Amino acid sequence: MDLNGKKAIVLGGTSGIGLATTLQLAAAGATVIAGSRSRANMDKAAALAGAGVSFTTIDVLDREGLAALFAQHDGFHVLVNAATGGARASGPFLRMDLDGFQGSFRKLWGYVGSVRLGAGHMAETGAIALVSGFPARKANPGAAALSTVGNAVEGFVRAVAPELAPRRINVVSPGVIDTPMFKAEGEARQELLRGATRNMLVKRAGTADEVASAIVFTLRNDYMTGATVDVDGGALLP
Ligand SMILES: NC(=O)c1ccc[n+]([C@@H]2O[C@H](COP(=O)([O-])OP(=O)(O)OC[C@H]3O[C@@H](n4cnc5c(N)ncnc54)[C@H](OP(=O)(O)O)[C@@H]3O)[C@@H](O)[C@H]2O)c1
Repeated sequence: MDLNGKKAIVLGGTSGIGLATTLQLAAAGATVIAGSRSRANMDKAAALAGAGVSFTTIDVLDREGLAALFAQHDGFHVLVNAATGGARASGPFLRMDLDGFQGSFRKLWGYVGSVRLGAGHMAETGAIALVSGFPARKANPGAAALSTVGNAVEGFVRAVAPELAPRRINVVSPGVIDTPMFKAEGEARQELLRGATRNMLVKRAGTADEVASAIVFTLRNDYMTGATVDVDGGALLP
């Protein structure tokens, strides 16, 4: 797909991987509508975005809001959902709060809702990209909820790809990426990212741009659907 002149909706498009995707799509000539919940994220993103990017307040768990957004942009070509959905639970499974585990599925429901409500408004030549994460296929202790949700996202993409065709849908699975998802600052942040990537083949955190470029690749490549693309510094390998 030539992205020039196409309309793209990027949910979670105001921070981290979603924001990098918003900026790369705009640089490719797409008109981008980037959405998330908070005004603060939107203001920060707006300071980086140029013409061609507009912002909208949307919670991916608000089905009525999603339906209205997609109807307003009927005929759009690109849907990216990189929203985390809200808080996720981590920690030892046998001591894990079950409501926290269940709540981690907000990410999945945000993805499912946006695809269910968005696909019917997309051009048949359009494409969708979602984001899972390396714990889906290599869960370290403490990552049971993250892993289960990631697996669900990847399974969802494979399950719905045949029903969405000729529209395409793919998922990108990041490793440890240096984004605002990690709240620590300064030396504590560097130590956290160093520790999390110490056993990976590429011994550093990835950048949001490195993941966004894979998202854009899946959108452009008309021969890809139902695929999972790993951008994870070799996280899955021993
Ligand atoms: N960073 C990593 O190491 C990593 C690794 C593997 C997978 N991932 C996945 O990559 C995706 C992007 O993560 P990131 O690192 O870029 O995170 P991030 O920097 O925290 O950005 C998350 C974005 O999602 C939005 N968002 C969260 N909940 C939302 C909701 N209910 N409705 C609408 N927007 C919502 C946030 O904006 P508001 O708060 O304003 O709503 C923000 O724009 C996520 O699916 C994450 O699980 C990240």
